[in-house]
Amino acid sequence: TKYEMIIVSTDGPVGIIRLNRPDALNALCRQLTTEVLQALKAFDTDRQIGAIVITGSDRAFAAGADIKEMYQKKLSDILNEDVLNWASEISSIRKPIIAAVNGYAFGGGCELAMMCDIIYAGEKAVFGQPEINLGVIPGAGGTQRLVKAVGKSKAMEICLTGNVNLRAQEAYAAGLVSGVYPVDKVFSHAVSVAKKISQQSQPAIAMIKSAINECKSPLHILTIEHY
Ligand code: HXC
Repeated sequence: TKYEMIIVSTDGPVGIIRLNRPDALNALCRQLTTEVLQALKAFDTDRQIGAIVITGSDRAFAAGADIKEMYQKKLSDILNEDVLNWASEISSIRKPIIAAVNGYAFGGGCELAMMCDIIYAGEKAVFGQPEINLGVIPGAGGTQRLVKAVGKSKAMEICLTGNVNLRAQEAYAAGLVSGVYPVDKVFSHAVSVAKKISQQSQPAIAMIKSAINECKSPLHILTIEHY
């Protein structure tokens, strides 16, 4: 398949997707999200592949939904075209996906990272949900996956202020990412973890992924135990 906005490769059993729309800091236009989904599905059905790594450039993982595309749409277009369909489809990928994030991961870019199963951050990674500054809500996980990752108060703060200043170390302290690495090491670290995962039993890996994603937030479990 010919892709224009991503670069797809493999390293042994690891499928690699590099977002490659540098002029727009990997803003998630329809073509880009379509290509990412297509590549993910191809890796998911490829028996040689055990895990997948998604990365961007040093400057940007992804600076969000494509604002220019977003502004052209009316609410009726958004509903008719099911513009966030790609996001729900990514949740159906059975193989583990690791995000190696450098630079900006804002809005839909932060949400794309959170759709992945593990996030590693480069030292210069910065996360945020600036949707509120555009008068919209973080519609692809910012109000759901982010709460699971960092808890309610921090998720509220991030989404309500629209601040784009959650740097790698703070993201690590908050639990959003699993580790922080030098800019030039984060990708290779992600690939090495993906290789390790690829050696494990594929059915067990798929079941673990599915079970962990079914887990409600710890707060929810606490509530049930409490009553
Ligand atoms: C379209 C974008 C873009 C975006 C950057 N670009 N972000 N194009 N959509 N989200 C384009 C710019 O227009 C510019 O193109 C080029 O990328 C470089 O960007 P600069 O702004 O010149 O770079 P810099 O000064 O380094 O600033 C980087 C930045 C800033 C801080 C990341 O670009 C920025 O604030 N971007 C918007 C971030 C944002 O609000 N994202 C959330 C979107 S809402 P030209 O051609 O002009 O040079 C969202 C909703 C999610 O994500 C809903 C679910 C999917």
